[in-house]
Amino acid sequence: MKITVVGTGYVGLVTGTCFAETGNEVTCVDIDVNKVAKLSAGQITIYEPGLEKLFERNLKEERLFFTTSLEEGIRHAEVVFLALPTPPGADGAADLSFVLGVADQLGKLMTDYKVIVDKSTVPVGTAEKVTAAIAQHCKTPFDVVSNPEFLREGVAVDDFMKPDRVVIGTNSERARKIMGELYAPFVRQGNPVIYMDEKSAELTKYAANSFLATKISFMNEIAVLCEKLGADVDMVRRGIGSDDRIGKRFLFPGIGYGGSCFPKDVQALVKSSRDANYDFRILNAVMDVNEKQKLFLLPKIKAFFNDDLKGRHFALWGLAFKPNTDDIREAPALYIIDALLAAGATVTVFDPEAMENVRQVVGDKITYADHQYTCLDKADALIIATEWSVFRTPDFNKISAALKHKAIFDGRNLFEVARMKEMGYHYESVGRAA
Ligand code: UGA
Repeated sequence: MKITVVGTGYVGLVTGTCFAETGNEVTCVDIDVNKVAKLSAGQITIYEPGLEKLFERNLKEERLFFTTSLEEGIRHAEVVFLALPTPPGADGAADLSFVLGVADQLGKLMTDYKVIVDKSTVPVGTAEKVTAAIAQHCKTPFDVVSNPEFLREGVAVDDFMKPDRVVIGTNSERARKIMGELYAPFVRQGNPVIYMDEKSAELTKYAANSFLATKISFMNEIAVLCEKLGADVDMVRRGIGSDDRIGKRFLFPGIGYGGSCFPKDVQALVKSSRDANYDFRILNAVMDVNEKQKLFLLPKIKAFFNDDLKGRHFALWGLAFKPNTDDIREAPALYIIDALLAAGATVTVFDPEAMENVRQVVGDKITYADHQYTCLDKADALIIATEWSVFRTPDFNKISAALKHKAIFDGRNLFEVARMKEMGYHYESVGRAA
């Protein structure tokens, strides 16, 4: 099939590459001239494990093309995916100007039947708006489908190639058939393609992300309670997670969820609810808990240093909002850095992938180490904000030799509490005894 993907951001690039991998001819369109030049020259623009290999192969085999011209990009396409940014506006609602702007242009350019697919996370009712924007100018028949994406950064290729489910929102039989054929190679193991109307598909995406964020905030509150009552959140997590109705995944407490999706989508669903005259109370609490959780370690750090962090120096391991990505959007580490600096402390950081992105945002307010161990030099204590695998079994001799105090504040529960005690560390984590 001939496919166009408009927008070569995270979702667009993964979508385009993975559809090319199953034999489709994919043209990706982006207004960013530099990005298109880089991608056409075989230079990948995002960090995502496993993607580069597929990208290079499909580029070489001429199934994957990049252009800045929407007209050229859609000329032969049967299906046009919109993978455009929907940033939160000032009021928390998703800003649809990119999506509707492209829809408007498509209306002017389309000369034969096409399926237009919303892949971006967009509020309920967007498919209707996209349809109206196209129909204003378009004389040929077309269908608009809502096909939300559920992939996770870090495992995006796997999530795309073997999705738990594919949600296709449209009432058009013709569009359903085309979308079903396109996704058939991805659901060969029997995972379902769920057909529904556009609005339900749009809401499914927000409901999924908001539910997962709720699960995390719930566990973060259980963790607080565990500390107050002397229970161990790891035990409680295992105890409840083995109930199939609850499930083992997304029950890990920590220093809050971040990234480009959960914070934005929870906020947008609260806003949509308010617009529909409904106060989504649980989600307000989820956001509130998450805001506080990002600074969960701060009182513990302060207490250890007698409430005075002035002149103290901290080593911080982990900057990305989660492992296997260089994405630092809404990363708890950034909040911790701000709070430490505000309290008069200094910080040296290390992250396997996200250093450059942090440097662009935080600049020279902090120092950047080129290795996880040199990061510890002259630090009073170590703080861990992201659970990268390289931090899981560190050389504790090196850590204790470098730190002024044998103290680790771990926001991701990487180590066994008993073992840390045995080694003589002051070790604090989330929801477990100190
Ligand atoms: C999330 C969803 O998981 C995807 O299904 C969805 O497609 C994507 O948003 C999106 O809307 O585009 P992502 O933001 O890449 O994916 O990251 P997750 O792996 O879901 O992690 C989100 C945050 O939750 C991270 O900060 C992580 O540290 C935190 N988390 C996750 C926890 O604190 N505890 C857990 O048990 C799991």
